Amino acid sequence: MKMSMAKQAAMAAVVVVMGSMAVIALILTLVQHHSVDLPQRMQYGMVFDAGSTHTSLYMYRWPGNKENNTGVVSQMLVCDVDGSGISSYARDPPAAGLSLRKCLDSTLAVIPANQLRETPVYLGATAGMRLLQLQNQTQSDQVLEQVTKVIQGYPFDFRGARILSGMEEGAYGWITTNYLQEGFIKHGFEGGWVRPKGRKIWGALDMGGSSTQIAFTPSQPVRDPASTLGPKLYGYQYEVYTHSYLCYGKEQTMRQLQVHLLKMSGSTRPVNHPCYHLGDNLTLTLGDLYDSPCVARPVTFDPASVVTFTGTSEPLQCLNQIKNITNLSACSLAPDCGFNGVYQPPVSGNFFAFSAYYYTFDFLGLAPQSSLSQATTTIDTFCKRTWSSLKKEYTVKDKYLRDYCASANYIMTVLLDGYKFNQTWGNIYFQRQVADTDIGWTLGYMLNLTNLIPSELPLVVTGVQHSQWAAEVFFIVFAVFLSLIVLVLLCLWSPQDGRGNK
Ligand SMILES: *[C@@H]1O[C@H](CO)[C@@H](O)[C@H](O)[C@H]1NC(C)=O
Ligand SMILES: *[C@@H]1O[C@H](CO)[C@@H](O)[C@H](O)[C@H]1NC(C)=O
Ligand SMILES: *[C@@H]1O[C@H](CO)[C@@H](O)[C@H](O)[C@H]1NC(C)=O
Ligand SMILES: *[C@@H]1O[C@H](CO)[C@@H](O)[C@H](O)[C@H]1NC(C)=O
Repeated sequence: MKMSMAKQAAMAAVVVVMGSMAVIALILTLVQHHSVDLPQRMQYGMVFDAGSTHTSLYMYRWPGNKENNTGVVSQMLVCDVDGSGISSYARDPPAAGLSLRKCLDSTLAVIPANQLRETPVYLGATAGMRLLQLQNQTQSDQVLEQVTKVIQGYPFDFRGARILSGMEEGAYGWITTNYLQEGFIKHGFEGGWVRPKGRKIWGALDMGGSSTQIAFTPSQPVRDPASTLGPKLYGYQYEVYTHSYLCYGKEQTMRQLQVHLLKMSGSTRPVNHPCYHLGDNLTLTLGDLYDSPCVARPVTFDPASVVTFTGTSEPLQCLNQIKNITNLSACSLAPDCGFNGVYQPPVSGNFFAFSAYYYTFDFLGLAPQSSLSQATTTIDTFCKRTWSSLKKEYTVKDKYLRDYCASANYIMTVLLDGYKFNQTWGNIYFQRQVADTDIGWTLGYMLNLTNLIPSELPLVVTGVQHSQWAAEVFFIVFAVFLSLIVLVLLCLWSPQDGRGNK
């Protein structure tokens, strides 16, 4: 009896000790995990997208201790710079710099003061500046100098203002797209980072004011190696076909169309414009009309004389004239061409179509997806409408409202006759954002230049390691299990002992 009492007491002590250890381990584990989940010190980065028609400042943030991982950089804010693109300040470069001040000032308020000096800032200029550089290198250098001077006056880690090449612009749009889609790498089940099996790589269709880009991974051997890039991301080598069509952005195409129509009209005045709506008249000076390296200007003309375009609401004519300016028949590596004689392997996979693709199709109610016949019918119906009926329905500025018919027909021409999405129309998603972040070249540019996308797979996984977590769980389960066994034994043994000793 005495022995049995001692045994019971000992066993009870074991249960208590085991139980307490399990509880302590559990608390420790929770505390440790909790500390990992505490709000982290954020890091910030900013990219100016100096486009041909306007400049925007994109601000991104990410948790500092995860800088070598993926899927964690998000868009914090976008600031639209007042006025037009920096290339429009060719004759007054200092004003280009001053135009950026308002947005720079607004970021000072949202980044903690002690982190300003470590916040990288980039300025990337695209086709508007590429064109200015072609027209007058001195002016484009002066504009870059002036924006540099202004940004350097702020306490950021400014890493330079430069003009991106067309291929870079296409490639960074592709990187952004697939980063946001977690196409390169994703958080694995066991806590590490893995390359997603079966996850498709997306293509990117971008359309700015002065150029348009296509980028995708071809499914067939490429016939012109110079048309592809081979970025190595997270230890994997990709092949990306990309081309940027200079002068085929939305604005420059509209300009090319006007000049083409003027040329075709001979001496007839006013000039009929089949993509403009009945009742709409647009008067331009020849100086403005020919102020672009994308159009052939007559040897002599009076810049002050004017030309009037008068809308006729003729969608079929509109489409045909656009086909004339996209040069669809030239192709030395037939049939593998986009347009304007540019080599392009057959498109493959799904695509995001963003920027002007999205804005145009969204306005017409065709985003993110619509059938080919629905798109054709909607555009046709819209183009046939009169200017007065459109003005009654929409409040957007005339200069935008006027161009939707032409830009929609241009988009159809590029996608169907150029890139040849005839059989794969359903693979295109007209979308502005993924995961609340704008699709465009800026994020990919920053990710690459700040080494947030390493070329090798990140080896160190921050936070609690898988093995450590497993050991903790094992210990808790083991301790609880042992306590239970002892408890069961105690319950089984003590009545028997009692009976046996009676
Ligand atoms: C991220 O990677 C770079 C080099 O790829 C390395 O220098 C840096 O220390 C890494 N940062 C962290 C937090 O692991
Ligand atoms: C280029 O711009 C500079 C500065 O505005 C001007 O002095 C020069 O004449 C221009 N050159 C040409 C070829 O237009
Ligand atoms: C059409 O494209 C070809 C090949 O790039 C080029 O040589 C030709 O000048 C272009 N024609 C027009 C009218 O732009
Ligand atoms: C990314 O940056 C590296 C230099 O850090 C450069 O060599 C590489 O070409 C860039 N990638 C792309 C796609 O431009």
